[in-house]
Amino acid sequence: MSSNNVSNSSSAKELWAMDKEHHLHSYTFPDSFNTDGCNYVLTKSDGVYLEDSEGNRYLDAVGGMWCTNIGLGRKEMATAVAEQIEKLTYATSFIDITYEPAAKLAAKLAEIAPSNINHVFFTTGGSTAIDAAYRLIQFYQNSRGKREKKHIISRQESYHGTTYIAMSIGGKKSDHTPDFDHKTDTIHHISCPNYYRAPIGMSEADYLDFLVDELENKILEIGGDKVAAFFAEPIMGAGGVVVPPEGYHRRTWEVCKKHDVLYVADEVVTAFGRVGHWFASEDLFGMQPDIITTAKGITSGYIPLGAMMYSDEIHKVISEEGHGRCFAVGYTYSGHPVSCVAALKNIEIIEREKLFDNVNDVGTYLEQRMKTEFVDLPLVGEVRGVKLMMCVEFVANKDTRELFADEVGIGGLVSKQASKRGLFVRPIGHLNVMSPSLILTREQADTIVETLRDSIEATYEQLLQDGVLAN
Ligand SMILES: Cc1ncc(COP(=O)(O)O)c(C=O)c1O
Repeated sequence: MSSNNVSNSSSAKELWAMDKEHHLHSYTFPDSFNTDGCNYVLTKSDGVYLEDSEGNRYLDAVGGMWCTNIGLGRKEMATAVAEQIEKLTYATSFIDITYEPAAKLAAKLAEIAPSNINHVFFTTGGSTAIDAAYRLIQFYQNSRGKREKKHIISRQESYHGTTYIAMSIGGKKSDHTPDFDHKTDTIHHISCPNYYRAPIGMSEADYLDFLVDELENKILEIGGDKVAAFFAEPIMGAGGVVVPPEGYHRRTWEVCKKHDVLYVADEVVTAFGRVGHWFASEDLFGMQPDIITTAKGITSGYIPLGAMMYSDEIHKVISEEGHGRCFAVGYTYSGHPVSCVAALKNIEIIEREKLFDNVNDVGTYLEQRMKTEFVDLPLVGEVRGVKLMMCVEFVANKDTRELFADEVGIGGLVSKQASKRGLFVRPIGHLNVMSPSLILTREQADTIVETLRDSIEATYEQLLQDGVLAN
């Protein structure tokens, strides 16, 4: 981003200078950052709003990074966290030590997860939950004597995190660049289940058959005795809020069961109410995965935490009497007491305030308004998503669905127009994604719809003026 909102006030300027010198930002371009630097110095948060050093207020429709589920700046959370720090600041959960927050949270997660999932390993976030799942899968398959079962199948454009193995399992082209290596020998990617990008004219039912057959054929091609697991986000997040054709998860899950392949549902985004349920796998998609990874909404972004949850069946194998093998996986901060207290408080707030009801009301309202009112706008190819997990895909040609060249940076152009108008939406290539807090009101949903509409129209005018689009 070249133009910036950073104030000329000395403190903002100083912060910007320190940052430029010393802070390597995620997903930034170090060369242009040297000249452009920071765009925003954020200073405050409250509910669904962020404020910058200029005093500008933004409605954060991104929800931080799909994570600020209960909203920002809650005193009650601050008190719970502070009390835990005074009571028991840190303890390891290695080997045979436990404490109230970790034990209670594990039991609570087992209660709200699908009924076959009753075991939890705590991690530091989503990527480490995926890493831990990968290692549990090896442990499980080796424990069963199935040492050949090491291959993983996942989907193009999926995002599973940023550790080496999570990034390798993920299928985003933008992560698999020549500038980084990733593991390819045992990781295979099948199609992203995005019906909008299916051959034009193909029915959704035929597309679904194609996707399910593709998975089964890939398992047969590699060999059923060699495929360990299939990784899938119930609704793809960073890949563009891709809601698969109806029946996709149930049918791919059945294919996995048929071939003794573990189903890993990556619910780092979709859990904790984002689409109106604790977890989407069973409640929305009617299947019981073997492993669920989660993070983000588990603490609503107040404190880092992730969890890798797995089935009774897996536990039976790894804990078989006389087995004597060690689950040699653990983080210093696995089950950190302060993180676990934040998660328990977060769950308590979601339950007490009946936030799923709000997601079902306001989320459905937002989804409907966006899906009905944006289709005729210039630039908009498709609006997709469920409730408070939404995405707008921009195209250069609505009939052919042709994309803009990457250099146009269409998602960034729209989001820049939106932030000028006090709204944060996240640009990812040719997309804008949104995942606002679950406390969003109808009035705030109206603001998102109306501001985004104005921003899209302004971007269109700008593209005409700049000659990127012909009149
Ligand atoms: C589906 C999914 N899995 C895993 C991750 C990685 O989580 P984290 O950034 O907490 O490591 C993300 C992050 O966006 C995600 O969306």
